[in-house]
Amino acid sequence: MSNKNNFVNRVLSGVQPTGGLHLGNYLGAIKNFVPLQEKYESLFCVVDLHAITVWQEPAELISKKCEVAAAFIASGIDPKKSLIFNQSQVPEHSQLAWILNCVARMGWLNRMTQFKDKAGKNKENVSVGLFAYPILMASDIMIYKATHVPVGDDQKQHLELCRDIVLKFNNDFQKEIFPLPEPIILKGAARVMSLRDGLKKMSKSDVSEYSRIMLTDTNDIIAKKIKKAKTDAMPIPNKIKELDGMPEASNLLSIYAACEDQELSIAFKKYQGKNFSDLKSDLTEVLIKTISPIREEMSKLTDDSNYLQEILDSGSQRARIIASEVLKEVYDVTGLSSKV
Ligand code: TYM
Repeated sequence: MSNKNNFVNRVLSGVQPTGGLHLGNYLGAIKNFVPLQEKYESLFCVVDLHAITVWQEPAELISKKCEVAAAFIASGIDPKKSLIFNQSQVPEHSQLAWILNCVARMGWLNRMTQFKDKAGKNKENVSVGLFAYPILMASDIMIYKATHVPVGDDQKQHLELCRDIVLKFNNDFQKEIFPLPEPIILKGAARVMSLRDGLKKMSKSDVSEYSRIMLTDTNDIIAKKIKKAKTDAMPIPNKIKELDGMPEASNLLSIYAACEDQELSIAFKKYQGKNFSDLKSDLTEVLIKTISPIREEMSKLTDDSNYLQEILDSGSQRARIIASEVLKEVYDVTGLSSKV
C-alpha cells in the first residue's frame, strides 16, 4: 500500500530499554502498535542508543533490552508480521543521525522541553547525547521513510522536530526524499498519569514505586498499588465535566477505560456518583486481567534467550535492507556517495 506521494505506508516506533516498562508505556504506545501491524508494514525498535544518553550498567542494559523485546511480543506484536530489533544493530540510524545533526538547528533543539526536564539544573553536566537525542529519534523514523509513528503524548514535540527536519532536508536538497511522518497519538491513554500525583506523568524516573504499575508487577503488587493510589477529596462527580478539576479520578477512570477499550464517557457512567473504593476494586481486577498474561508471557520469553536472539537478529537484518537503501539515496543526494 502506498500513500499519495508513492511512499510506502510504514510504521516505526521505539521504546527505551531503561528502568523496566510501565502501564504508560503499554497503554500509551505498545498496545497501539498491535493493530497497526495488520494494516501497515511495521518496525518496532528497542532504542538502546537512546538509553545510553544517561548512564546504563552494561550488563543491566542487555537484560533490559530483552525485556522490551519480550514485552513487544507478549503484548501481541507478531515477529512474523513486524520487525523487532535493537537500534544499535542497524548502524544506519547513527550514520543518518550525523547528517541530520548538520540539518537541524540549535534553536530547534533548545526548545525541547523534555531535555529541559531531564537535564534540570544539571545542564552543564549531562551528556551531549541527551541534547542531540531528538535528532537520533528523527533518524530512527527517517531511515525507514516511516509515514506513521505511534507514540504517547510526551513525544509530540520530538515528532514535530522530526517533521521540521524532513521539510528542511527535502528543501535543502531540492528533492522529496522523505515523507512527512504523521504521529499517531490515541486520545484515551496518551498520557497516563502517576498514581501518586494525577498532575504528573507516570514515569520510570519517579522516586516512588507506588507511582507506577510495571508490566512485571505481580497481582498482589498491582492490588497494593491501586489501593494506595491517590484519590481526590470528593467522590466521583455526577457530571463528566466536573472531572476537569479532579486529576486522580480522571486518571484512574482513563486507565480503566483504556484497559477495557472503552470511551472515557462509558467508564464514567458506570462510576458517576460512586466512591473511589468501588472504582479501585474493579480497576484492580481489570489491570490484573490486562497485565498478568503479558507478565507471564514476558517471563517465558526472557527465559528463552535463544528465541529472542533469533527474532532480534532477523529483525535487524531485514531492517538493514531498507535502511541501507535509504542511506544510499541520502549519500547520493548530499554528495557523500563513493562516486567521484
Ligand atoms: P520512552 O521509552 O520514554 O517511552 C516509550 C513509549 O511510551 C510512551 N509513554 C507514555 N504514554 C502514555 N503515558 C505515559 N505516562 C507514558 N510514558 C511513556 C512514550 O510516549 C513512547 O511512545 N524517545 C522515545 C523513544 C523513541 C522513539 C523513536 C519513539 C526513540 N526513537 C522513534 C518513536 C519513534 C522515548 O523515549 O520513549
